[in-house]
Amino acid sequence: MEEKLVKEIEQEGVSRRQVLAGTGALAAGAILSHVGGLISPAVAKDGTTEQWPWPYEKLDPEKTAQLAYEEWYRVFCGAAVISSIFSQLREKVGGPYNSFPIDSFIYLEGGQAGWGTICGAPAGANMVFNLIIGPRKPLTDNTTAHEMCIDIMEWYSKANMPIYMPKNPKVTAELPHTVSNSPLCHLSVGRWMKAANKPLASPERKDRCARVAASTAYRAVELLNDWKDGKYKATGEFNCGKIHGITGQQNCNDCHGANIPEAPKAPPEAPKAPEAPKKA
Ligand code: HEC
Repeated sequence: MEEKLVKEIEQEGVSRRQVLAGTGALAAGAILSHVGGLISPAVAKDGTTEQWPWPYEKLDPEKTAQLAYEEWYRVFCGAAVISSIFSQLREKVGGPYNSFPIDSFIYLEGGQAGWGTICGAPAGANMVFNLIIGPRKPLTDNTTAHEMCIDIMEWYSKANMPIYMPKNPKVTAELPHTVSNSPLCHLSVGRWMKAANKPLASPERKDRCARVAASTAYRAVELLNDWKDGKYKATGEFNCGKIHGITGQQNCNDCHGANIPEAPKAPPEAPKAPEAPKKA
């Protein structure tokens, strides 16, 4: 297998010595991922083997959503979103996706190990955006994964969930729809459970969350496809840090009622100490 690969790479114009020694790192890495099926052994100057962003090919949102729905019953929300996208990219792109440990993201379940923090569906989508769009700098086309993360968190918070209706749903009864007004699992699932009057362990609640993961995977692929086509425009505007001086969400009243506290303001810049008199 390795021998065959070295041959293929040699045909692409990188010497055997370069490949085996991991020199000519970038070229070898690019070709290895092009050939597919192998983790790049290329070692960068700083000693790491990190290479990102990873290539993206447009996917069908409908197919992705259906995959996420089915995967929810195996690995739950966050890993289901990641799996629905990366399993297809394994086929279309191969390379680094083949060694990505999708199932390790099972911890996103229940807002991270059941703690009801961020819903795994947007958390999984955010990871995918970052891996595909890449480091914040240098910016190639003014798009950063950061903006797409904001977009999907805002979209999720306002969506009348669940949106996506799977083929052959496990629960056939009509499910209620609710707006979470928050990306938090606790609020999202809690508001739905109240409206549906169904407990956490009910088949209805499970199917609702599977459909929420599917809806989010659908939206994530729409955004990525737009980005791939050069059509993506960031729409999210909320910047809690800038507006309120604290990280947070737009639903301050949910938790604080009418008395929203104010964050301490940054102190005015201290006056500079006078320069020590120079010796003559
Ligand atoms: C999910 C619930 C929740 C949401 C939503 C939320 N907060 Fe908080 N926030 C809290 C809790 C709980 C504390 C801790 C309060 C304490 O210990 O007294 C807190 C603390 C704070 C603090 C720290 C200072 C203080 O007086 O407690 C500020 C400032 C604050 N929130 C502002 C906001 C703003 C502005 C928003 C909306 C943009 C917001 N919060 C949204 C739950 C929330």
